[in-house]
Amino acid sequence: MNPPILETVDLRMVYHVGHVEVHALRGVDVQVQKGEFVAIIGPSGCGKSTLLHLLGGLARPTSGRIVVDGVEVSAAGDFERTAVRRRKIGFVFQRFNLFPTLTVRGNLEIARQIQGDGVPARDELVRLLEMVGLPHKMDMKPLDLSAGEQQRIAIARALVNHPAIVLADEPTGNLDSVNSSMILELFQDLNRRLGQTIMMITHNPEAAAVAHRIIEMKDGRVLSHGILPQLVTGAGT
Ligand SMILES: Nc1ncnc2c1ncn2[C@@H]1O[C@H](COP(=O)(O)OP(=O)(O)O)[C@@H](O)[C@H]1O
Ligand SMILES: [Mg+2]
Repeated sequence: MNPPILETVDLRMVYHVGHVEVHALRGVDVQVQKGEFVAIIGPSGCGKSTLLHLLGGLARPTSGRIVVDGVEVSAAGDFERTAVRRRKIGFVFQRFNLFPTLTVRGNLEIARQIQGDGVPARDELVRLLEMVGLPHKMDMKPLDLSAGEQQRIAIARALVNHPAIVLADEPTGNLDSVNSSMILELFQDLNRRLGQTIMMITHNPEAAAVAHRIIEMKDGRVLSHGILPQLVTGAGT
């Protein structure tokens, strides 16, 4: 088998809150193969978001290893970790986190510029927006869009730098059931058509069911890894 696109080894995270230590991750070993769509489930407080933050280089682990697409981010300094995050990770959050004062186009452009490249050409932006089904919303502001549309724009933004992996934290948590289904279908479509690797945290068993594999967490540990599917990689190029 190919080396995983994402791997952790004995990952641990302790938060210090005053004099109290919170052991959010207590030795997590996960592997994700290129082209997989993985869901992470588990009760509130079990460490799901902490895991995603560490994988995405938003914070440093207390100990353990994280390798993203061949780069050991756990050993990297802040500068390199940030560079890896911008180049290799696409984030999707529960609250969309779009810049409200920028247009859709501005939100996509800034995600590219922050990575150090120039602004994407209009054609490329149109293609990205077509992928999420909203090619005509380029000049709108986020707050003029519905919640479901805002999340689809956030997904387009996550894809703007062709990330090795999309990390989504409760992406349907702020949406009604119709919009939730649309977002889940979009993730499935991106995974099937582009071979996009996706890791999605969710509370919702129906959402988890669309993934290839479900990793179950509890109390800062992995309870079960699910069954590794036969993957069709390089699909839909
Ligand atoms: N920034 C933080 N500072 C202190 N404790 C935190 C912080 N973030 C998360 N925690 C604690 O770490 C544990 C895991 O939280 P989290 O990763 O958010 O879990 P989940 O996403 O599964 O709900 C919880 O006990 C939470 O209170
Ligand atoms: Mg969380």
